[in-house]
Amino acid sequence: MSSVQEELNNTQDMLQGYVELYNYSLSYVKTMAIGCAIQLGIPSAIHRRGGAATISDIITETGVDPSKLPYLRRLMRVLTVSSILATTGTDETETESDDSTVYKLTPASRLLVSGAGAPTSCDISPMLDLLMRPTTSVATYFSLEEWFKDAGATATLFEVAHGMSPWSLTKNDALYNKTLNDGCAADSNFAMDTLLREPRAAGIFRGLGSLVDVGGGHGAAAMAIARAFPHIRCSVLDLEQVVSGAPDDGTVKFIAGDMFESIPAADCVLLKYVLHCWDDESSVKILRQCKRAIPARDAGGKVVIMNMVVGYGSSDRFVKETQVMCDMWMMRYVGVEREEHEWKRIFLEAGFSDYRITPTALGFQSVIEVFP
Ligand SMILES: C[S@@+](CC[C@H](N)C(=O)[O-])C[C@H]1O[C@@H](n2cnc3c(N)ncnc32)[C@H](O)[C@@H]1O
Repeated sequence: MSSVQEELNNTQDMLQGYVELYNYSLSYVKTMAIGCAIQLGIPSAIHRRGGAATISDIITETGVDPSKLPYLRRLMRVLTVSSILATTGTDETETESDDSTVYKLTPASRLLVSGAGAPTSCDISPMLDLLMRPTTSVATYFSLEEWFKDAGATATLFEVAHGMSPWSLTKNDALYNKTLNDGCAADSNFAMDTLLREPRAAGIFRGLGSLVDVGGGHGAAAMAIARAFPHIRCSVLDLEQVVSGAPDDGTVKFIAGDMFESIPAADCVLLKYVLHCWDDESSVKILRQCKRAIPARDAGGKVVIMNMVVGYGSSDRFVKETQVMCDMWMMRYVGVEREEHEWKRIFLEAGFSDYRITPTALGFQSVIEVFP
């Protein structure tokens, strides 16, 4: 390759890097735009208008002040270019919009519609509210650099920001407790709906007589399992401040307790999005309690973990990036998203003999069966 060509390639690479850096540095604008669309109820407004709405329809439906129309158009453009919304007759890169532009939902925004007649059974916006929450999510990163340099500090990023662990904050801050429980329940509704439709994943629960969903929040996952397999007696163990607000319709039994102290006996312990909140030492303690609660493998005993196995699942860049970003989100606590060898190490240390990983259609999440 000639040096002129080499220089040209280098320049092009550098220019690509320049654009990438602008894009990454402003990615939070996309986060804010999605958060604002949820708060204004834009996806629900488009849905109420039969799945197609003009900017005037959106103003009428959402209560945005008409004087803000030019700004609303700019918000809609970010959402459209990011494929959160689409426009009729244009592709997502088209940036012009006028009063006749018709906005439509995309697969992503269909998951943000709430209210009767929503296009999917699940509205995951409460989970997005949790992930984007200014105080308990975004602001916890403000001291990241200092935290990295602080040799003596043992407090987590979350503790630096709030003076306590998330599980103490749920006791002291009713709004955070509600945001966390609603977010988890919304995600569980979607995740379990998807999982239980996959024959291989649903088969994991077949044949069980009883199941306890440990750290099960408001019981959305256990309720989905109880509805799909009415013969399984399902219960939920969680902290008092969580269980006391759970919607108890009798489908599952709610038990207030501490998983580090004791777990009620059952054929299967479900740990959905629980162990990623804890470091290895605490996870091994939880797993040891799980092992005490279940029968031997040949009597059907097992622990079922729903979490990421980093590196498993689709090789799509979006999936990979989501996995490592989730890992850094868990870093705010003492949590971690684990690779297979890291899972294996804690299973063996807790006294389990074997495990099986099943990737799921959820893309970045897997199911791990762990056997005594
Ligand atoms: C990330 S949430 C997951 C909730 C639910 N499993 C889901 O997937 O939606 C973690 C849950 O663990 C619960 N938890 C934390 N510490 C606990 C403890 N010591 N004993 C029982 N549950 C606990 C929290 O209250 C919370 O509901």
